[in-house]
Amino acid sequence: MTLKKWCAVLAMSAGAVTSAIAQSDFPPSASAKQEAPRLVEVMSMAQLEHLKLWYAGKAKNWDLAAYELRQLTNSLAEAAIFYPAVPVSNVTTMKEPLLSIADAIAAGDDRKFAASMRVLTDGCNACHASMGRGFIAIAVPTSGQPPANQIFPPLEKPRKK
Ligand code: HEC
Repeated sequence: MTLKKWCAVLAMSAGAVTSAIAQSDFPPSASAKQEAPRLVEVMSMAQLEHLKLWYAGKAKNWDLAAYELRQLTNSLAEAAIFYPAVPVSNVTTMKEPLLSIADAIAAGDDRKFAASMRVLTDGCNACHASMGRGFIAIAVPTSGQPPANQIFPPLEKPRKK
């Protein structure tokens, strides 16, 4: 993913939010008030996407990994766009590891994928710490057992005759 693409993603996701707004410690910007979800909703989504991204990469299901990476990038972009209290610089530091994960996915490089995921995860925690949320500690899963309601390895494609 290029820097240009990242900016496009940021711009795109500005139109993607539809949920209703509720009370939050981090109210959305005035212009987003009508549609923006609470920041915890965006973050809970990011947590699930982070988890799925990890298991998709572990299973070398690069199509699914690329998909989850896009979703996660959107969630982080939303956090930056809609919540003025969230420092944009804390989100832009996520750009490097996101790009690096994208490269690893494109190359099918599982070692680079795992290493980049760890750098990304450090970024999640750095922002949490800087915003008085250091008790929300994110990690890449260490057990081999993925959440059981989704299949992570690539499905066998029907053979061409
Ligand atoms: C730019 C800052 C920032 C970044 C980057 C960030 N977060 Fe958060 N996150 C927050 C803030 C602020 C909260 C607390 C929201 C609140 O209390 O209303 C939060 C809360 C959370 C929560 C708690 C949600 C809940 O209610 O249980 C989870 C889980 C979470 N983040 C996951 C992640 C993951 C995973 C990443 C990295 C992929 C990440 N966050 C990156 C700022 C950030």
